[in-house]
Amino acid sequence: MGDMVGRRRPLIAPSLLGCDMGALTSEAARLQGAGADMLHLDVMDGCFVPVLTFGAATAAAVARGATIPLDAHLMVSHPENLIDAFAGAGCRTITVHPEVTLHLDRLLRRIRDLGCLAGVALDPATPPDLLRWVAPAVDLVLVMTVNPGYGGQPHLDHLHGKLPEVRRLLDANGGGSALLSVDGGVDADNAAELVALGADILVSGSFVTGSPDPAEAIRRLRNA
Ligand code: DX5
Ligand code: ZN
Repeated sequence: MGDMVGRRRPLIAPSLLGCDMGALTSEAARLQGAGADMLHLDVMDGCFVPVLTFGAATAAAVARGATIPLDAHLMVSHPENLIDAFAGAGCRTITVHPEVTLHLDRLLRRIRDLGCLAGVALDPATPPDLLRWVAPAVDLVLVMTVNPGYGGQPHLDHLHGKLPEVRRLLDANGGGSALLSVDGGVDADNAAELVALGADILVSGSFVTGSPDPAEAIRRLRNA
């Protein structure tokens, strides 16, 4: 996906969080059929965030339903224990939170060694400055525009200013080919501004999976 940097149109990565958790293989196929470019897997352990979602076996079930890349967002307290399993399940990108990672650079390089793209997710309160020191090991930065743990939350507009700062830090420190992704309350009202600010990927949960017409919702995001 590295060749996607600088595209005018964003990649759309629906989050499966609002899908039928008992039918994720078919839900994955349905979202791919609706035009999704990637599928965003919100992995929550009930510790880093108060909610518990699913593990690598479920990611493998999603992989059985779709051929588009799986984008694992690990909202877990010990990502070092899980990256091998999610790589084995077929995830294309594995994104971890520096807020709970003792050795971020080592973890990112391990993700790459497993053949996956390495992502860093930034909570709303997390400054992007750390990217300066890990930029060469980063393939994706996930800027959270909600506090992690739930879908359907209000989009935190004031975080838009983080996007150009993330792009600047990456470009200036050897991470120029990294993709910029935005996650949380993304919808047709804010998509255009997010893309203008540099978003290469738009993660969207409730706006897509809560829509009676996910294909139309995806089109509106892509063409914003
Ligand atoms: C929140 C997750 C997001 C969320 C997006 O912790 O990381 O991916 O599910 O859902 P919406 O788009 O409804 O905020
Ligand atoms: Zn997410």
